[in-house]
Amino acid sequence: MKAFGEIWRSNLFQKWLMAITGLLLVLFLLGHLSGNLLVFLGPAHLNEYAHGLRTMGHGAVLWGARLGLLAFFILHVSSAITLSRRNRQARPQKYVKVEARSSTLASRTMLYSGLLLISYVLYHLAHFTWGAVHSQHYAQVSYILPSGEVVPDVYTMVVKSFSEPLIVILYLLSMVMVGLHLNHAISSAFQTMGVTNRRIMPLVRVGGPALSVIIALGFSAVPLAIILGFVKI
Ligand code: HEM
Repeated sequence: MKAFGEIWRSNLFQKWLMAITGLLLVLFLLGHLSGNLLVFLGPAHLNEYAHGLRTMGHGAVLWGARLGLLAFFILHVSSAITLSRRNRQARPQKYVKVEARSSTLASRTMLYSGLLLISYVLYHLAHFTWGAVHSQHYAQVSYILPSGEVVPDVYTMVVKSFSEPLIVILYLLSMVMVGLHLNHAISSAFQTMGVTNRRIMPLVRVGGPALSVIIALGFSAVPLAIILGFVKI
């Protein structure tokens, strides 16, 4: 038990924990993005998808995924804070400038962009999942699927929300934050996990930032398309 405690607290374990949970959260984002893009196919597709997620396995699948997501999120944030605190304690003052010059804006601001992301996720849940903010747009309306089933109208909720410029601006700024955070995070996670092969390394170095741009632009496409009038009720 003591040995496990020591392994858990070690820097190496905490780095692996941050890398693996981070990559699992990226997988969630890719799944979430592909679901969101259904907005471009119209209300029937998005509403059927949202209803399918809620009812799969009588709701057990969604709750299992939510609990898993919450656990990854907590482990990711706690390992990030632990490592960042240890780094700061171990770093002599005179090295601060040297590191700042050789690092990128994204890498230097990981903890801050991460903390801002937590605020975004809380705001986002309050918006679309709990209906605690912008509740005038919350899915009060029902939608009749082609199968005849009556389900919450997630499509109308999303389109009405992103018809408000302030909400669009808040989401777009948050997506810049998502992109900035992932820009450094994805390649860094693969490096932590020992991907140092000379042939794969360049792919990881380019692929991480490229994927971060795809994710940020993909999510931004939804509010932008709505406010510009390409997607309507
Ligand atoms: C413009 C971009 C986004 C849109 C339009 C969007 C849309 C939505 C919608 C409509 C829901 C509620 C689904 C439902 O209850 O049926 C939802 C849930 C959620 N979103 Fe997003 N989302 C976006 C970006 C993000 C990002 C970047 C993250 C993470 C950093 C995220 C994390 C979540 C989480 C954790 C849930 C709750 C899942 C659940 O427990 O049901 N979303 N999103």
